[in-house]
Amino acid sequence: MKIHKLYGIGVGPGDPELLTLKAYKTLKGVDVIVAPKSREDKKSLALLTIEEIIKERESELRVVEPVFPMTKDSAKLDFYWKKAREEVLGKGVGCETMAFVTLGDPSMYSTFYRFLEFFKDVVDEVEVVPGVTSFSACSSIAKVPIAEGNEIVSIVPDVKGNENAVHVIQNSDSLIFLKPKNIEKIEDMLSNKKAILGVKVGFKDQEMLTGTLSEIKEKTHYLATLIVKKGKKSLEVKRRIL
Ligand SMILES: C[S@@+](CC[C@H](N)C(=O)[O-])C[C@H]1O[C@@H](n2cnc3c(N)ncnc32)[C@H](O)[C@@H]1O
Repeated sequence: MKIHKLYGIGVGPGDPELLTLKAYKTLKGVDVIVAPKSREDKKSLALLTIEEIIKERESELRVVEPVFPMTKDSAKLDFYWKKAREEVLGKGVGCETMAFVTLGDPSMYSTFYRFLEFFKDVVDEVEVVPGVTSFSACSSIAKVPIAEGNEIVSIVPDVKGNENAVHVIQNSDSLIFLKPKNIEKIEDMLSNKKAILGVKVGFKDQEMLTGTLSEIKEKTHYLATLIVKKGKKSLEVKRRIL
């Protein structure tokens, strides 16, 4: 089977209003939507973000929710990727267009490019539709710029066992930490620096906290983004702004 066109679509951080018009139009027209999720018993957050568009659709739509577990166990990954291929190709039989939806932007730590690599033998054309990243959304809600002037920004996905991260943390003006965990090290280096933490930004139960790093207690949520601005004095301490 062949997929004529595969779209990689960034659906933004969770607020359907932050979807681009291009993403909206594409999702209204594709034959199949692939919405990855991390566990069998969980709903895809990207799918949750676009559920109103799916309800609005009049044309027939097939939805596949393959599981891509968050693990480094290669046997487990191998099993789930093969299973995903069967599910996607099974549901995709006879389809012309398919959209892989991803939270935020596809260029930022998304499964999309791995998906593309795994399915490249059956895909003719590819188009990537960018989305609003989680950190742009956090910055806009907190009304704190991520960088100004010549400031250097670094994005740190995980600090554990990553010596490069220590170097980056020491040498950047602004830092974005995704799924902050194991950050005792960062706290040691940056504890008195001002930070903002966005949890589930864009979703109905979103939260935004500001304070020094050591004051923000809820930093371990998976869907959390922590922004630390080393020189920022104007961030208000410990105020819950949502
Ligand atoms: C695998 S990365 C995907 C990033 C995404 N592609 C983007 O452009 O923002 C997942 C991490 O992004 C961050 N993230 C994604 N959506 C978020 C949201 N709605 N609120 C806060 N953080 C979010 C969290 O740090 C989460 O652990």
